[in-house]
Amino acid sequence: MDITVTCASGIEKTVKSELARLGYNDAPAINGAITFKGDALAVARCNVNLRSADRVYIKLKEFPALDFDSLFEGVLSIPWQDIIPKDGKILVNGKSVRSKLFALSACQSIVKKAIIEKMSKSYGSSYFSEKGAAYEIEFAIYKDVCSIYLNTSGAGLHKRGYRDLVGIAPIKETLASGLLLMSDFYYKRPFRDPFCGSGTLVIEGAKIALNIAPGLDRKFAFNEWKGFDKKLYDLAIEEAKDKEERSRQIDFVGSDIDPKAIKLAKRHAERAGIADKVRFEVCDVGRLKLDAPQGTIVSNPPYGERVYDKEQAEECYKNLGKALKQSPGWSAFVITSAKNFPKHFGKKPDREKKIFNSNKECRYYYYYGQKGDLS
Ligand SMILES: C[S@@+](CC[C@H](N)C(=O)[O-])C[C@H]1O[C@@H](n2cnc3c(N)ncnc32)[C@H](O)[C@@H]1O
Repeated sequence: MDITVTCASGIEKTVKSELARLGYNDAPAINGAITFKGDALAVARCNVNLRSADRVYIKLKEFPALDFDSLFEGVLSIPWQDIIPKDGKILVNGKSVRSKLFALSACQSIVKKAIIEKMSKSYGSSYFSEKGAAYEIEFAIYKDVCSIYLNTSGAGLHKRGYRDLVGIAPIKETLASGLLLMSDFYYKRPFRDPFCGSGTLVIEGAKIALNIAPGLDRKFAFNEWKGFDKKLYDLAIEEAKDKEERSRQIDFVGSDIDPKAIKLAKRHAERAGIADKVRFEVCDVGRLKLDAPQGTIVSNPPYGERVYDKEQAEECYKNLGKALKQSPGWSAFVITSAKNFPKHFGKKPDREKKIFNSNKECRYYYYYGQKGDLS
């Protein structure tokens, strides 16, 4: 099968490395989508283990779609009777970019009509109750070429199961993991997030450090499908659990000026099963003390756009910069949409990368700390 994994634009390389660690190489990445050859076990493994990917799809077909007729014929040529059972709930979504077919609701209707027509012929009936498991079909038309996908994940992979209440401007769990994996974060290095909010970066960091797979506490769309082999899913779960390193000692701390955020972060850490491994405390970044010679900060501070105004955000950047100056062994990796971040932080970054955080164009700034024995 062709398996396509999607992710936020800018973190494709990180997802590719994750796939390589699972044994899936040779996966070209284009615009937030990575496609490779795999089997049903690969689908289960990717859903259970990938930290920075959004969803895992089976790519069913790719064909030119210049008009409604070619879209209909292309979808009709897929053996839907082998994919969707008679009572399957058929959901169709899609997008079109730089193509002649751009009326999404009309395309949606055509795709569903072609699926129903094929199923009617195969099942000898034109009535479908759609009361069974959901099958989410996605079409993506790009430059007049249509790709048809089956969503195996269901809800996005950021839904890990532990974050039940929403804090102020939380970062998606998948992007948080991607940022951590791009940094020099390592389980033996102390880790801090001085703007931790609901705790996402600290919790995802602890899960990476302890090798706890992100998809153990949730179900995926494919779990409900009749044709899917439960044994393969159980195998993927067992493999992941075998790799856990829960006894590792880690020094991971999240802090935030808002006591409500800290309460939420503690709740989420509890629900994620790692509360005994991390610490959360109320602290203004102006009082931040980095109490070890070396370590890593990965953080998503206020951007100065909504809840916190520009001056407040700039004050935060300035104070973070001061704390880092006093502890030159620490690295800092910061995502923000504020283009003047380096100016207020007080240092030119070693590197910066364009990344989209929920469709907002941001920069990820890399500041590497001094290496060697600084104790
Ligand atoms: C963008 S949110 C972080 C969201 C977090 N990454 C999450 O996933 O929930 C920014 C956080 O910075 C905190 N903050 C604002 N000013 C601060 C300050 N002076 N010191 C420490 N934290 C501050 C806010 O309370 C807020 O939780």
